[in-house]
Amino acid sequence: MRIAVVGSGYVGLVSGACLADFGHEVVCIDSDVRKIEALKEGVIPIYEPGLEEIVLKNVKAGRLQFSTSLEEPVSEAEAVFIAVGTPSRRGDGHADLSYVYDVSRQLARVVRGFTVVITKSTVPVGTGDEVERIIREANPNADVAVVSNPEFLREGAAIEDFKRPDRIVIGVEDERARPVMTEVYRPLYLNKAPLVFTTRRTSELIKYAANAFLAMKITFINEMADLCEAVGGNVQDVAHGIGLDGRIGGKFLHAGPGYGGSCFPKDTLALVKTAQDYASPLRLVETTVAVNDQRKRAMARKVARAIGADVRGKTVALLGLTFKPNTDDMRDAPSIAIVQGLQDAGASIRAFDPEGMTAARDYMSDVTFAADPYAAAEGADALVIVTEWDAFRALDFRRLRGTMKSPLLVDLRNVYRRDLIEVHGFRYVSIGRPAEDIATGLGAVAE
Ligand code: UDX
Repeated sequence: MRIAVVGSGYVGLVSGACLADFGHEVVCIDSDVRKIEALKEGVIPIYEPGLEEIVLKNVKAGRLQFSTSLEEPVSEAEAVFIAVGTPSRRGDGHADLSYVYDVSRQLARVVRGFTVVITKSTVPVGTGDEVERIIREANPNADVAVVSNPEFLREGAAIEDFKRPDRIVIGVEDERARPVMTEVYRPLYLNKAPLVFTTRRTSELIKYAANAFLAMKITFINEMADLCEAVGGNVQDVAHGIGLDGRIGGKFLHAGPGYGGSCFPKDTLALVKTAQDYASPLRLVETTVAVNDQRKRAMARKVARAIGADVRGKTVALLGLTFKPNTDDMRDAPSIAIVQGLQDAGASIRAFDPEGMTAARDYMSDVTFAADPYAAAEGADALVIVTEWDAFRALDFRRLRGTMKSPLLVDLRNVYRRDLIEVHGFRYVSIGRPAEDIATGLGAVAE
């Protein structure tokens, strides 16, 4: 089957490469000439485990190609995926759909024969209707069926998520699209992944509902962690104890510094806006957004309290800057607010991240980037684990103790166990676990 994927960013590239790996003939398109030239040379513009291998393999097999022009690949394709970005619009939090609509206009002029146009980008309810309207307006003769097929890819596990999904959601209005979509995903169907067919609007909603629910789940356990600290409970046991109930489920109950990334913050906000527009507010999601925003900066206060209220002139070493491990993505990472909060309170920041330091430079200033965790910790008053990279799971605490000014570990991801850290003479502060040794006082980081 011939497939064109418009937009070769994170979602487009992963989807295109995986579809080629299933045996389809795929062309990934992007208007960024440098990106396409690099891809043609085998240079992958993003960090995603396993992606390079699968791209190179399928390019070599002739099933995956790259192009800056829509015309030929779209005219030859039976299915065209739209996978361009839908960032938050500045000012109002709505998703910015201008890229999606531009592409719709462009492809309307070049489609030939019956073509299924699939929105893969995360788009608000009703976008499929608008895409269809734009295509018909630009070319009344275009014979297209517009389908919604949201992605549920986690960064760092995107290949696995694409190839072994829990489900594939497909929203169709024109029944002719159904067999085409079934054919696109036939290899997965054989993997027993259920295809969930529904209407286009419902499919668009499912994507937002899934992300909002997960964001809510994380935020719930984060607040539970605060309560554990207040009353003397253990949030990991709470998560385990409730997660064994099949109706709740144990995943996404890991307390931490708040969710970040390119999806949850943007999608929860866009859903809140949609619900408000339709006068059907989603109050739980509104609160989730607010609580998570406040939490990121609250983490700076937590670090300050652990150091002892006044952090002026103190050096704080952060381990991990990306919003989660195995990615170089810094978008909406909790580290940004933590750095800002600590700097506002007068601390100097050193940091190390295995993949994110280049991107981090665009999000924070006056940070000294170190070559490894030990260089970051040299002379520091506190070491803070912000992102749980594997590289931080077996730190040499004897060595750290020798280089730090005062041995304090603030573990915002609960990577370690108190007793195993304290034997090395460290003070240990974590999230929602008992006997937190936090100095009392108001802390020096402003709300
Ligand atoms: C998410 C969804 O999982 C995916 O289905 C969707 O398509 C895109 O958004 P992603 O943004 O890559 O994927 O990251 P994810 O692994 O879901 O983590 C999101 C954030 O939540 C991270 O900041 C992570 O640290 C945090 N998180 C996650 C927690 O704090 N606790 C958890 O238990 C799980």
